[in-house]
Amino acid sequence: MPETSLQLGIFALGGTIAGTANAPGATVGYRAGALDISELLRGLPFPAHCALTARQVAAIDSKDLTASHWHDLLDAMDASPGHQAAVVTHGTDTLEETAHWLWRLHAPGQRPVVLTAAMRPADAPGADGPGHLVDALALAADLAQRHAAGQPSAVWVTLHGQIWRGLDMDKTRPYHLPAFESVDSGPWGLVENSHVRWLRDPAAALQPGPQDHAQALATLAAGAQRWRQDRDAPWPWVEVIYATAQADPRLIPALVQAGVQGLVLAGLGNAQVPQRWEAAVEAARAAGITVWASSRCTRGQPVPAGQPPFSAPQHSGQFLSLARLRLDLCLTLLAFRRA
Ligand code: SIN
Repeated sequence: MPETSLQLGIFALGGTIAGTANAPGATVGYRAGALDISELLRGLPFPAHCALTARQVAAIDSKDLTASHWHDLLDAMDASPGHQAAVVTHGTDTLEETAHWLWRLHAPGQRPVVLTAAMRPADAPGADGPGHLVDALALAADLAQRHAAGQPSAVWVTLHGQIWRGLDMDKTRPYHLPAFESVDSGPWGLVENSHVRWLRDPAAALQPGPQDHAQALATLAAGAQRWRQDRDAPWPWVEVIYATAQADPRLIPALVQAGVQGLVLAGLGNAQVPQRWEAAVEAARAAGITVWASSRCTRGQPVPAGQPPFSAPQHSGQFLSLARLRLDLCLTLLAFRRA
């Protein structure tokens, strides 16, 4: 691709990438979001043909992320008309949820977005944040050029030199590196010495897969649009309930009583709901609660099995973690909420 002068916007939300250790050399027990984005960028080598603007949107540990941070992030991006691609620095703990949310809100004509994060605080020995940030900028520059040349854009994540679609990756390890992987589909590309090597055509990223359910995806997009248009709309209350041997059903009526609107059941094996939960789940459904059943297994999709009493959502042709399913159920409820 020919080199042009590109404007990249960096939007910082905090996280370990901006963290500082409480004790010299510590790699746990640090303060996430302690450093400003300008401090993280200082001294880093960036693509020569790029101009950067950086904005601190929040400075949080991403365990405390809320939907209003997503509004703030999108507002900040909208208020920065000059950039051709955005880089978002984030905590790793809810990175996949922000990536998922942005993915559901994204349209192919919008500017590309790249999220990145780090597992070690900025002052730790072997801090991974600076390299990830340099990779994210290289990826954003590549995507900005493609978008300028008329290619559809998407939401991407890069860590550990790998590139995933915002839909594909999950944090699978709490400490060790690499902490992220794409369970079903693998990386779409690699960043090597600030050069992007695509393994698949990024222009195809937003195309629905053969198993995707078009009507369900349209519902998710409608829910996303409604959420974005009405900042004050109440967030739908959706909980994930985790099935175990001897799982007690009493949590379900307690949640219904308290006003929950949706439940994602983290079922056993192939989305199996314990028999002792069945009456409580039926009662929740009868009370108007939307219930999706999935699996607590961390890899692979549940496979539809005839007429199970509680079926897993089949809107996506790929593995979606429980956290991602919960967001899709929130979007579905938003789509069907009465104005
Ligand atoms: C966070 O998610 O903000 C803290 C953990 C991390 O970024 O690795």
